[in-house]
Amino acid sequence: MLLTPNEILQKVNDCLASLPYDRQPASLYEPIKYVLSLGGKRIRPVLTLLSYNMWGDNPESVLTPAIGLETYHNFTLLHDDLMDNADMRRGHETVHRRWDANKAILSGDTMLLLAFQRVAQVPADKLKEVFNLFTVTTLEIDEGQELDVTFENRNDVTEDEYIEMIRLKTSVLLACALKMGAILGDAPQKDAELMYQLGEQVGLAFQLQDDLLDVYGDPKVFGKMIGGDITSNKKTYMLINAFNRANAEQRSELQRWIDAKDFNRQEKVDAVTRLYDEIGIRQLCEQKINHYFEQASQTLAKVDVPEERKQHLRNYMNELLHRQK
Ligand code: IPE
Ligand code: IPE
Ligand code: MG
Ligand code: MG
Ligand code: MG
Repeated sequence: MLLTPNEILQKVNDCLASLPYDRQPASLYEPIKYVLSLGGKRIRPVLTLLSYNMWGDNPESVLTPAIGLETYHNFTLLHDDLMDNADMRRGHETVHRRWDANKAILSGDTMLLLAFQRVAQVPADKLKEVFNLFTVTTLEIDEGQELDVTFENRNDVTEDEYIEMIRLKTSVLLACALKMGAILGDAPQKDAELMYQLGEQVGLAFQLQDDLLDVYGDPKVFGKMIGGDITSNKKTYMLINAFNRANAEQRSELQRWIDAKDFNRQEKVDAVTRLYDEIGIRQLCEQKINHYFEQASQTLAKVDVPEERKQHLRNYMNELLHRQK
């Protein structure tokens, strides 16, 4: 059976909603239920099922490991929001704000372990490959997150370093989701590798969009507070290129805001956004996003399955290209 992205989303959400959390103490599991109930796009499990369906005909059979990836993703959000000092996620208070840092850490760790348990629910002959893929992915994401945080205090981060950092913190999970679907669908090795590559390319575009929306998004739609990356001096593609393209006056103003210790949050966000506008950073970032989506589309073209089997993934990628949240 070939499922549409919407049908997959429905199944993913139904499955997530039906998971029992009957262990004790309930207070450890409350934040897990909370964050998973707030919605989210469910991109990673949707990608797994779309990819699986390019070869396999029983998408329900990969629902549990796909939910494992979503569980893992939500774990990273608990820790990421604590590290990024973010107050809002999916239009609601983040776990460390609603409860406290300990909850974000410990309930987060618990989600990480539940994720491994769920990802491991695959046929025995696939377990080793899937487990290795997932484990390496989780290590890479930690490496990417570490780079993201250390870059906050560096002023010489290059565009290449930024791209490698977002490949690690974001792309590899999308790549893992797609490759896992391919492996579980019995795709030839060569096509499974192409699906991984496709995920890396979509993932780079996806994180560039996230960074763009962090400046230009509508908080009511995006569900996160706007300007968080600017206030914490995240070395995004936008900031790096603003520096590279600024004139002397603009560069010294940017540098002043980066060095400022005591500042009004909104004033800094407005000032840096105005500099981005002047320098034309939004368009530059949009071009880069289109470039990676274009690459991904070319990679999909190389995958050796009939066009009608690729259509749902192609449509889904097209929806992602225009995302506002
Ligand atoms: C947010 O991921 C973190 C990033 C990697 C940019 P999503 O944008 O997939 O967040 P949800 O799950 O839809 O809320
Ligand atoms: C997210 O990067 C990467 C991971 C969660 C691993 P961000 O810090 O940009 O994600 P958001 O914007 O908080 O969702
Ligand atoms: Mg964050
Ligand atoms: Mg972060
Ligand atoms: Mg972000």
